[in-house]
Amino acid sequence: AANTMWGGRFAEGPDAIMTAINASIGFDQRLYAQDIAGSRAHAAMLAAQGILSDSDAAAIGEGLLTVLSEIEGGKFTFSTALEDIHLNVESRLTELIGEPGKRLHTGRSRNDQVAVDFRLWVRDQCDAAISGLEALMKAFLAQAEAGIDWVMPGFTHLQTAQPVTWGHHMMAYVEMFARDRSRFQDARRRMNECPLGAAALAGTSFPIDRFATAQALGFDRPTANSLDSVSDRDFALEFLSASSICAMHLSRFAEELVIWSSAQFRFVRLSDRWTTGSSIMPQKKNPDAAELLRAKLGRILGATVALFTIMKGLALTYSKDMQEDKEQVFDAADNLMLGLAAMTGMVSDMVANRPVLETAAASGFSTATDLADWLVKNLGLPFREAHHVTGTLVALAEKKGCDLPDLSIQEMTAVHAGITQDVYSVLGVQNSVRSRASYGGTSPERVAEQVARWQAALA
Ligand code: ARG
Repeated sequence: AANTMWGGRFAEGPDAIMTAINASIGFDQRLYAQDIAGSRAHAAMLAAQGILSDSDAAAIGEGLLTVLSEIEGGKFTFSTALEDIHLNVESRLTELIGEPGKRLHTGRSRNDQVAVDFRLWVRDQCDAAISGLEALMKAFLAQAEAGIDWVMPGFTHLQTAQPVTWGHHMMAYVEMFARDRSRFQDARRRMNECPLGAAALAGTSFPIDRFATAQALGFDRPTANSLDSVSDRDFALEFLSASSICAMHLSRFAEELVIWSSAQFRFVRLSDRWTTGSSIMPQKKNPDAAELLRAKLGRILGATVALFTIMKGLALTYSKDMQEDKEQVFDAADNLMLGLAAMTGMVSDMVANRPVLETAAASGFSTATDLADWLVKNLGLPFREAHHVTGTLVALAEKKGCDLPDLSIQEMTAVHAGITQDVYSVLGVQNSVRSRASYGGTSPERVAEQVARWQAALA
């Protein structure tokens, strides 16, 4: 049979495969609350403008609340024949209240309807990401505060570079997640314009009040161009882009956790709550949550690329291609929220192995730069020359199988006569990290300032 919503010009119903490819109700039912909120705002505005009678608008408003409670109570039967959430809700409304239900769609189209529903949903996800990030930042902050002056190796190329503090390393992630948070805040601010009332594409001849519906739905203002309003999915792309960068950060720390929790590193112990065992190897405690977090970016970035690809060739305005936006965003959002929560749990539970970190910090000639700097400061050597002298001493220590502080003063002076006993003071890792007190540097003093700054900012 022809469709009851638009079947006037149709003699035949759709092929079964057409229904399968066309219907979005299987996934867009997640927009039910936003759809009902949008319709309630629209109906109230129509009445305020004298386009609908007050009694029709009241019946619609109440009927929509009934539909809402049916859906939330699991008593609603979603119909594939009715394509999407918009037609499912409207059709049930009309079943419930009769004729007034058929007046709801005055001065509106599914094109602006889906645009407003989806914006409301993505806006909520920005808020969820922001609060998830704040919880995660607090977990890193607590780790940083506990180990402000613990020393550990800092790496470049995953090779020992210079000693750093645990607190400094944890605070690096606070900075990354703070930028992520500001990206979601920024995207939210930009997306907070209401497309409702753009109708199909050109606006409407009914005397609607778009400022009223925008305000009722918590938007800052209506969108300014009706063609853009129904064509635009920038808000979803911005959410996905911010999610991808955030998931990339999660993945980088996940990779560090995988390395750090290995028997060869033993920098941290992950709690039982975030690890799994092996069915064959009894000793195993695998960092599965971290591994999955490392993988999530693949999925979230995949969704981002998918939506860019869906949108890139679409002439204005709405095309049905755009219905493919939602599954990508839903999947990315679900996995991002899961990832933020899992990382917050892992970071809160993880226990740093301070003695192992300290021993590792002192190995691998990590204070070679300190030695070179000492030669510059105390003997006036040009840095390049100091670098060369230090390199010679490192090669000597390597040949002897010892670390830099284990070389005797005779061995040192044989390489450069000016070296004195004082040099040993800079070869210790504690002195090394304390000396890096430049703004943003790793010294406990500087890290404590950053911890305090962020504690105040997140309080
Ligand atoms: N289900 C559609 C979507 O998600 C709603 C808009 C459909 N509009 C239309 N004219 N067919 O994009």
